[in-house]
Amino acid sequence: MDSVRLAVVSCANYPAGYFNVYREVSKREDLDVVVNLGDYIYEYSSAADSYAAADAATLNRTFPADNDLELIRLKDYRRRYGIYRDDADLQTLHSKVPFIVVWDDHEVANDAWENGAANHNTGEGDYGTRKLEALQAYFEWMPIRPVFEGSDEAIFRTFRFGNLVDLHMLDTRHMGRDEQLDYLDYFTATGLDQARFTADVGSTNRTLLGAEQLLWLRASLGYSTATWQVLGQQILMGRMNLPAELLVKIATEDFDGLPAMLGELAQLKGIQLAGGTLTQEESARINTAAPYNLDAWDGYQYEREVVLGTAKQLNKNLVVLAGDTHNAWANNLKDKDGHQIGVEFATASVSSPGLEEYLELQGDQIAGAEQGIGLLADDLDYLNINQRGYMVVTFTAEEARADWYFVDTVKSRDYAIDTARSASRSVRPGADGRYLETPA
Ligand SMILES: [Fe+2]
Repeated sequence: MDSVRLAVVSCANYPAGYFNVYREVSKREDLDVVVNLGDYIYEYSSAADSYAAADAATLNRTFPADNDLELIRLKDYRRRYGIYRDDADLQTLHSKVPFIVVWDDHEVANDAWENGAANHNTGEGDYGTRKLEALQAYFEWMPIRPVFEGSDEAIFRTFRFGNLVDLHMLDTRHMGRDEQLDYLDYFTATGLDQARFTADVGSTNRTLLGAEQLLWLRASLGYSTATWQVLGQQILMGRMNLPAELLVKIATEDFDGLPAMLGELAQLKGIQLAGGTLTQEESARINTAAPYNLDAWDGYQYEREVVLGTAKQLNKNLVVLAGDTHNAWANNLKDKDGHQIGVEFATASVSSPGLEEYLELQGDQIAGAEQGIGLLADDLDYLNINQRGYMVVTFTAEEARADWYFVDTVKSRDYAIDTARSASRSVRPGADGRYLETPA
């Protein structure tokens, strides 16, 4: 096998817009497979005040009355997949290329962990029952089954593409994940209680994959002789540390003045990177940093170290694929001691809104925020925070390469690829080649 080419997609929110991204992927004739990294459906209703549904009525993307509710029971989850499969763009894509799939949180409920979810309350009944019913509907509709006899939920498995790629598909969501930490529990009158936070987020007891899946992954990486070890999974693995004062604003959803603060901090960081002098106070502002997203691997740092340490010890070429954030990213993956281990390529969403909407950014603020975040997050090499799209990842013996493509709108069926913002990154195999590069 000389090459393998995957299209990577995630986060298709039906009321948020048209599946123009699926349409674009279906036009390609060069794909071996589509990898769907989750949020194939969302559990919300399409009421105007529901997540990302403000335009649903205008776009004629509301759900039929019998399914226009938050999904909790099996019959409703089941029906939602049927509605999605009526979408012509999704149908066309399924008719052309096979899918390799994993779920993320919204196949059950927002920000799920093993025994609960942010979008589940006791009035909605027992969470374990809801989860099993949601996962049952997924198994009924998607090309995937539990990997063990007697299991209702284990889906970690490896796809082998000759001796070129071993694609290890993971469940970071429902099987072994501890509850997410919340910054609001760590803020004091003087800011973030960094010592207590660092101890908790790095605890060796904290799990994401869980012991069984982690053991399997380490063994699989050990057995594999393929050139590329690829993790197909939901959430960002890269270290995305941002200044604590920004995190306070984000965690308290106080977005006024955020673009200006980001600009100021980025300017200080630029001076520091250029070897300029900062006052002690200025240095403290940018060096007091913590992870931006505690729902990502950044919130589960011990297991991240175990995975990266395993790849390092085995001298493997590691490429991590991620979805979940609705934005496109490329990260250099380093262990806590700063050793470069591998790279991460993350895809934008099919239609769910991204950081631009969450941070309430407009116009020039978007480019400013991209530049600022790019400077402030050390391991981050590329980002697009405001467009919907997909990613193609091509593996050969010489390189692994990601190409990102973005549509200019999901709010109209009349759309185009925004070619000005297409982007690429690559990485070479071997101990000297494991950094992101920008192809010529
Ligand atoms: Fe999503």
